[in-house]
Amino acid sequence: MPQDPDPIRESIREHYAAQARAGSPCCGGSSLFYLEELTIGLPPDVADFSLGCGDPISVAALQPGETVLDLGSGGGLDCFLAARKVGETGRVIGVDMTPEMLARARSSVERMQVRNVEFRQGFLESLPVDDASVDVVISNCVINLSPDKPQVFREVFRVLKPGGRVAVSDIVTDGPLPEELQKDMAAWGACVAGALDVREYTAGLTQAGFVEVKVQPKGDASDLIEASTLKGKVFSATITARKAV
Ligand SMILES: C[S@@+](CC[C@H](N)C(=O)[O-])C[C@H]1O[C@@H](n2cnc3c(N)ncnc32)[C@H](O)[C@@H]1O
Repeated sequence: MPQDPDPIRESIREHYAAQARAGSPCCGGSSLFYLEELTIGLPPDVADFSLGCGDPISVAALQPGETVLDLGSGGGLDCFLAARKVGETGRVIGVDMTPEMLARARSSVERMQVRNVEFRQGFLESLPVDDASVDVVISNCVINLSPDKPQVFREVFRVLKPGGRVAVSDIVTDGPLPEELQKDMAAWGACVAGALDVREYTAGLTQAGFVEVKVQPKGDASDLIEASTLKGKVFSATITARKAV
């Protein structure tokens, strides 16, 4: 893949390429976030390869027949879980920019013979997805990694059908992070440095055209980086919104 003109994205891609090669989950695997009944029956290397910070599948309340788009699909865990919910008449598209992640996810598609999931290479900021073609956009710990979040929100709005919904898990902050930290590439990769303030997240989605925007902080996530002095400032959150009919 040619060098990304955006140095933040380039560095994040290198970080996640290494994680895909190592096959190690960053935050304790799926057991931290998902009910056991959700992941039961998946191969352990798929079920345990979670780099997320929540469970967007349960938040999304997916229905049979729906089309789901997963932003930053990584090893594909949320796509495979979504595929079970939408069934044979539904479909799931995972988009990720990191070839090593896509290779991992696609090899799991082959091995599990899943027919309603596909993985596409692309950026959140220019999604390889048609206008108004998706019922639900999910994402797990990825939007914080984008250097251009307003553009991501516009793209999500573009690809959703009227009435479509957003169900995202992400990292947010309460107030600005120290400037030094915002420039620290290791802290970007750890899903902290790029995290949006909870109010900016709400405003960004509203500005992109969404209604019923809710950003609900859940657990403290200050332990995402070592020696953190960020207690009470960095949270995992559930984000929901809707594109009006
Ligand atoms: C923290 S991991 C989360 C992976 C997956 N959602 C999960 O829960 O396991 C972030 C993923 O998003 C991808 N990613 C980060 N920024 C991206 C961007 N701007 N466009 C496309 N993919 C991106 C990375 O390649 C990586 O696979």
